[in-house]
Amino acid sequence: MKSVPRLLAVLFALAVFSVAGRAAGPGPLLLGSAWYPEQWPEERWDADLKLMADAGMHMARIGEFAWSSMEPEEGRYTLDWVERAINAAARHNIVVVLGTPSDAPPAWLTSKYPETLRVTEAGVQIRHGFRRQFNYTSPKYLELSRRIAEELARRFGHHPNVIGWQIGNEYTEDSFDPHSRQLWHQWLQRKYGTLDQLNHHWMTAYWSQTYSAWDQIPMETGRSNPGLLLDYKRFVTEQWVHLQRNQLEVIRAHADPRQWITTNLGGLGWANRFNRTDIAADLDFISWDTYVGQGHLNPTRIGATHDLVRGWKRKNFWVMEIQPGFVDWAGIANSLDKGETRAAVWEAVGHGADAVAFWQWRAALNGQEQYHGVLVGPDGEPVPFYEEARQLGAEFARVGPALAGTSPESQVAILHDYDSRWAIDFHLHSKRYDQIETLLGYYAALRELTQSVDIIDPRGGLEGYKLVVAPNLNVVSPEMARRLEQYVRGGGHLLLGPRSGLMNEYNALSTLGQPGLLRDLVGAKVEQFYALLDDVPVSGRWGDGRATIWAEYLRPLAPDATVTLTYGRANGWLDGKPAMVSRKLGKGTISYLGALLEPAMMQRAARDLVQAASVNSPTIPVPAGVEVCRRVGQGREVFVVINHNPKPVVLDLPVGCSDLLRPSAQERIELPQYDVAVLQRNPAKPN
Ligand code: GLA
Repeated sequence: MKSVPRLLAVLFALAVFSVAGRAAGPGPLLLGSAWYPEQWPEERWDADLKLMADAGMHMARIGEFAWSSMEPEEGRYTLDWVERAINAAARHNIVVVLGTPSDAPPAWLTSKYPETLRVTEAGVQIRHGFRRQFNYTSPKYLELSRRIAEELARRFGHHPNVIGWQIGNEYTEDSFDPHSRQLWHQWLQRKYGTLDQLNHHWMTAYWSQTYSAWDQIPMETGRSNPGLLLDYKRFVTEQWVHLQRNQLEVIRAHADPRQWITTNLGGLGWANRFNRTDIAADLDFISWDTYVGQGHLNPTRIGATHDLVRGWKRKNFWVMEIQPGFVDWAGIANSLDKGETRAAVWEAVGHGADAVAFWQWRAALNGQEQYHGVLVGPDGEPVPFYEEARQLGAEFARVGPALAGTSPESQVAILHDYDSRWAIDFHLHSKRYDQIETLLGYYAALRELTQSVDIIDPRGGLEGYKLVVAPNLNVVSPEMARRLEQYVRGGGHLLLGPRSGLMNEYNALSTLGQPGLLRDLVGAKVEQFYALLDDVPVSGRWGDGRATIWAEYLRPLAPDATVTLTYGRANGWLDGKPAMVSRKLGKGTISYLGALLEPAMMQRAARDLVQAASVNSPTIPVPAGVEVCRRVGQGREVFVVINHNPKPVVLDLPVGCSDLLRPSAQERIELPQYDVAVLQRNPAKPN
């Protein structure tokens, strides 16, 4: 009996969706918003959806915190309202991304099964009243979150207006409850087989840490054994992968293959509580939530973050959340300037986003985030920012077809390796050593020259890149060493930065000294590292400049290893010693740079690196401070150009290019601050 109204509802949805499909509807480039229909009377839904559609927003993400409205008591699922919301969206040409609600388990669940509540490292069990209160390994939590995901997938897995799924929301907190500890011990047992092996690799004779039973092994994140710390990160990663798979399996089992599955990662992209490449592996594509918080758009950092995110799966991604002007959680939650959010949205698209969604549509009247930036106020009227969204909506509709099926393409890659990130962070040795800043130093200089740089996990392969820079490749396994050597011998140009190869895959100091397994490849060894109080002069191939924060002195071992940079007068130890060693190997080259360099020298370095590696990706000339992002595919070549300068700039349109946002513009256009041009290069006519 129950299935008859269900069938009618689906037929109805199909009907409205196909009617809607004829009107201006969702294009290949989607603008959308997080929308929480459960917070509003149903009579209001149409008004909100109409406002969305009027602004050219054709995607709504719903459901990710609605567990108590979807399952008010255990096993009683109330999903009719979800269906009505999806159908209402369809009537307005708005496709739906359905979130599984596992980030916010309801009160009945946490009080009935207190073991589902997370325990902090200090041993405090989190109580109800927020979100993310769940224990990510709890079997009961996993069972119930799988069940609700399955119910949703059964019900909406064939709904024509549901285009895809988001699992959970911004995975974040691990748990230190007894069950998680037990899993940790089992995980270690599986990895090491015997305690002797674990004691050996962690060298637990140090400080009498030797373990004689698995359950003696602590689970902690402080200044613990470095081998333990690295393994704990890998363990945490596996638990999140498991949590995600647990829901993914049931969605895949019930949903149409056309419905894709993603998740939205937070932590401003660079967070490293777990390995994000591993999370992305099981998904159709990855999404992330980009926020500025206090201050203004830092185009280099945010642009690099988009590239990092794209690197997790090496394909285009979604921005599932972006602030409509301002957030509510920053020290000073200032608004981005008028036009600045638009620039941020276009920057995301330029770097490979195929959809961008605001968080959020309208603030709940009560609840923790009342002050957050929105598009519609508590009175139901659009706020001033709505107009900026509307401009974006119109632009997405116009430009979407040109961008469909295109992606950024790079000949230069920077390596970002989670094992190394973790290992260095466990022991910085200099509080000034910031791995992200180090990476961004290379990135900024290389991107200015090439207008496109990938940031990738080395495990995914290096083939196709002319130049690879590994700023901080601290942990090197035999597999990694093999991969790098193959890359260089095959014709790649590799630059290794300081701290490379110091550790083996157990985060133990390599018995080969530094750079450990890379010693033969580099043809040199690091004699000693030094955390610097003051800058040190350095000169050679890249002119005269300064080493800053960190310096290692090298000794060439291979006869063909050439000293290419040398330290000037410093602490006595470094004086006159090699700072960089380079050599040819096979068809490629390898350099080991032992120092961090000041920006001016980095720029010269980048120029030389790009030239030596014959990087020749197509670029277009623009004034300084103007960002260019190139997307190619389907025989099309499109440049997103953004003026980040406080003043207007004049842009000469490159030959054969027209601005899709200003179709009548000829030859040159003026771009005020934050303004954007989207240039399409017409394919050269065959002779
Ligand atoms: C996160 C969450 C959202 C919301 C925003 C506020 O990214 O995913 O639910 O809390 O922050 O900025």
